[in-house]
Amino acid sequence: MAAVLMGERAPADARVLVLGAGGGAETRAFAETHPQWTFDAVDPAEAMLDLAAHTLGPHVERVRMHHGYVDQAPTGPFHAATSLLTLHFLPPEARRDTAAQVRRRLRPGAPFVVMHMSFPQNDDAERQLWIERHVHYLVANGIAPEDAVKAREAISADVPVLTPEQDRHILHDVGFTDITEFFSTFTFRGWVCYA
Ligand SMILES: C[S@@+](CC[C@H](N)C(=O)[O-])C[C@H]1O[C@@H](n2cnc3c(N)ncnc32)[C@H](O)[C@@H]1O
Repeated sequence: MAAVLMGERAPADARVLVLGAGGGAETRAFAETHPQWTFDAVDPAEAMLDLAAHTLGPHVERVRMHHGYVDQAPTGPFHAATSLLTLHFLPPEARRDTAAQVRRRLRPGAPFVVMHMSFPQNDDAERQLWIERHVHYLVANGIAPEDAVKAREAISADVPVLTPEQDRHILHDVGFTDITEFFSTFTFRGWVCYA
C-alpha cells in the first residue's frame, strides 16, 4: 500500500526517506517493486539497522543507513517519505516536530505515508478498552498469553498512543495537505498526505 501511494507521485528514480526503518522489511519491499528508487533509512536502534542490512540483501547498495532520529536524515529533498509503526512511540510534541522535519525534507507536493497505533480514547477507560482489545487480538493470533500481558504493560506505560483525530491534526498543523486515511484496522490507522 505504501509503495503504491508513494509511487503515484514519485518518479521512477525517486529518493525516498524511510523513518523508523527497523529491520528493513518495508525498505526491501519498496526496493523490490521499484528497482531505481534509492533510500535513506533512519533508525535509532543500531541493532535494527544491522538487521536491515542483512534483510535487504543485494538491495542494500541502494540504501544509506542513518543511525539516529529524523535530525540525522539528510536534508533531501526527497520525492516521498514513509514512517510505519513508528510515530506512536513519540509523545505529541516530539511527533509534531518529527512530522515537521519530515515535511521540510520533502519536495513540494511529495507524499508522506504514515501508519501506526491510533485509536479512540475519550477517557482512560476507553484507552484501556482498546489496549485490552489489542492484547486479546494478539492472543487470538497465537501470541502466548504471558507475552501478550507484557505487551499490554509496555503499551500502557511506554506508547503514547493518540486518537486518529489528534494524529490527523498533527499532520495538518505542520503543513501537510490532502490528508487521507487509507488504512483502518482495529487499533491501527494509516494516512497519506502531501508536503
Ligand atoms: C515497530 S518498529 C517498525 C519498523 C518498520 N517500520 C516496520 O514497519 O517493520 C519501530 C521502529 O521505530 C524506531 N524508532 C523509535 N523511535 C523512533 C524515532 N523517534 N525516530 C525514528 N525511528 C524510531 C525503533 O527503533 C524501531 O526500529
